[in-house]
Amino acid sequence: MSLPISKTAAQIAPFRVMKILGQAKQLEAEGADIIHMEIGEPDFPSLPCVHQAAIKAAEQGCTHYTPTLGLPALRQKLSAFYADFYQAEVNAEQIVITPGSSSALQLVLTAILNPNDKVLMADPTYPCNRQFVELLQAQVISVPVDADSQYQLTVERLEKHWNSDVKAVMVASPANPTGTLIEQDELLKMAHFLAERDGYLIVDEIYQGLVYERPAESVLAHNHLPENVIVINSFSKFFGMTGWRLGWAVAPKQLIDVLDRLGQNLYLSAPTPSQYGALAALEKDALIELEQRRQIFQQRRDRLYQAMQAAGFTLTTLPQGAFYLYWDVSEYTHDSEQFCAQLLEQTGVAITPGTDFGKVAGNTHVRLAYTNDRIEEAVERIRQFINNLGDTSI
Ligand SMILES: Cc1ncc(COP(=O)(O)O)c(C=O)c1O
Repeated sequence: MSLPISKTAAQIAPFRVMKILGQAKQLEAEGADIIHMEIGEPDFPSLPCVHQAAIKAAEQGCTHYTPTLGLPALRQKLSAFYADFYQAEVNAEQIVITPGSSSALQLVLTAILNPNDKVLMADPTYPCNRQFVELLQAQVISVPVDADSQYQLTVERLEKHWNSDVKAVMVASPANPTGTLIEQDELLKMAHFLAERDGYLIVDEIYQGLVYERPAESVLAHNHLPENVIVINSFSKFFGMTGWRLGWAVAPKQLIDVLDRLGQNLYLSAPTPSQYGALAALEKDALIELEQRRQIFQQRRDRLYQAMQAAGFTLTTLPQGAFYLYWDVSEYTHDSEQFCAQLLEQTGVAITPGTDFGKVAGNTHVRLAYTNDRIEEAVERIRQFINNLGDTSI
C-alpha cells in the first residue's frame, strides 16, 4: 500500500547538508578520516555554566511547561542583554521565546501569511525559509544576488521586484551561506520602504555576535524603527547551544497575542531546562567566554581565507560574520552536488553544495563552514583534489 502524503509535504526539498553529514558520518564509522566543514554549528560544546544551570533547575523540579511566550526571567534578561550588548531598547513583552529560531521563523510566518501571499528573499539564502513559506501555501520570490551587493538584498532590488502581493521580505545579517552583512542604513531604508507598503521586514540576526572587525549590531538599536520589523535570533550559534533548541523573536506589540496563541497550539512552550541554561549563558562571565570563541572564529576565517588564496583559489567576498565561506567553483564544476560527493569520497573533506541555498548559481557554488580547526589540512586536500581533476570538470 502506498501511504498518501500531502501535496505541500511532497514538494518539500531536503536540507542537503543533513544528507552530506549522514554520508560523512557513515564514512567516519567505516574508519575514514573526515574533516567536517559541512554542518553549520559551532564545534565547541555549550558552556559548563549552561549545563550546571539546566541541571540545577531540573533537580529543583523545573521540568514543567513554562508560559508559551517563555520564562518571564529569560524575556527580561534578553531585554537587558539588548540594552548592554546592542544599546537597543527592547521591551521584554515583545520577546517571544521559541524552540530554536526555526520555530520563531515558522511562528512569525504563520502569523502574517495567507495562501498565495508572496515573500521576497535573496538567492542564495537559508533554505528552510523557502520551505516555511511554501508550507503555508504562500510563494517565494527569489531575487538573485551576487558578490556586487555582498549577496544581500538592497532597497533598489526590492523596488525592482516589488508587487502588491508581497507581504514580507526576509533577510539575514550576517547571512547563511555567505557570511555577509547588510549595512544598518540599508536595513533601515528597507524597513521604511516596506512600512510605506504595509509589508514586514523579517531580519534574521541569528549570527549576530559572530561579527568580525566591527561591533555586533542589531537593527533594533535604531530609534526611529518602523513597527513592521520582526527580528529573529537564537541561542544556537553565538551562544553555541544548537542542541538545546532555543531561539526567540522580537515582534511588534500588536503581534504578540497572535504569536502567543499560535505557540500555545504548535509547541506549548520551549524546553524548560534549556531556558534555565540560557539564563546562565547571558551572564557576564559566560559572555566573556563567548567573546573568546568569537575571536577563535575570526582567526579561523582569516586562516581559511588565506589558505584558499595561497592555494590559488579565487574568492569573491571576505565574510564579515557567521562561520561560512561561499566559494564559486564554476571553474571546476557545474554540478556542486557531484563535486561535494566526490570531494568527500576521495579526500574526506565534507562541504555543502550551493544547491541547498539557491537555484540561480547553486550548481556552481559550495559552502565551507569553519566550524572545524583542521583548516589548512582541509584546504590542502581540496587543492590536491582540484589538481587531480586536471583539465576535466565534474
Ligand atoms: C540563517 C539561519 N536562520 C535560522 C537557523 C535555524 O537555527 P536554530 O533553529 O538552531 O535556531 C539557521 C540554522 O542554521 C540559520 O542558518
